[in-house]
Amino acid sequence: MIKIAPSILSADILNLGRDLSAIEQAGADWIHVDVMDGRYVPNITYGPALVKAVRSTTNLPIDVHLMIAPAQPHIKAFAEAGASIITVHPDADIHTHRVLSDIKSYGIKAGIALNPGTPASMIEPLIPLVDLILVMSVNPGFGGQNYIPEVTSKITDIRQMIDQSGRTIDLEVDGGINLSTAKSAIAAGATALVAGAAIFGQSSEHYATVISGLRGDN
Ligand code: DX5
Ligand code: ZN
Repeated sequence: MIKIAPSILSADILNLGRDLSAIEQAGADWIHVDVMDGRYVPNITYGPALVKAVRSTTNLPIDVHLMIAPAQPHIKAFAEAGASIITVHPDADIHTHRVLSDIKSYGIKAGIALNPGTPASMIEPLIPLVDLILVMSVNPGFGGQNYIPEVTSKITDIRQMIDQSGRTIDLEVDGGINLSTAKSAIAAGATALVAGAAIFGQSSEHYATVISGLRGDN
């Protein structure tokens, strides 16, 4: 079963509680929270307080995507705020292996993310530590961008790396996911899809249809 993780980046920030309950009722699997620092990526979003607020209003796993450099000093705060998965980028910290171990020490899942320009080989040594690999299919920083088609072959490569490892690792694709690109990502081996604009760009009565459509249920 493909997991769908709506990104609240495209939700209505002044009505976030309403949007969270609508996507939960519509069958979302995870809540994807994009944390940006204006340094690792050009945009600035939210911090642990937002994760804590989301935690207080939903029982779904919170999938925290840290686009901040360095990430290490902030892991504790995000873990204690209620993150279920924390994903970091391998070029955000000098010692990524240690950062992933830190995340795991809180009893939560650890993820590693690859930008479109980062090769799959960069994360190979980290595979024994991670529970999730996030493949960015846009350059990180903004919602509503177009899927970069060249990334699909990297999803295939990472699928092979995961299968060869024999470990249970989710393969999440993030950026420009819509009904058409979701099909390519799933065919290449994705098990989880982030979607911002494709979901929140619709009115809430369509959320359930979009979520099941992205999963390939219809
Ligand atoms: C981009 C973020 C994505 C983004 C996806 O930096 O990591 O999670 O919100 O948004 P869409 O689905 O609109 O491309
Ligand atoms: Zn993201």
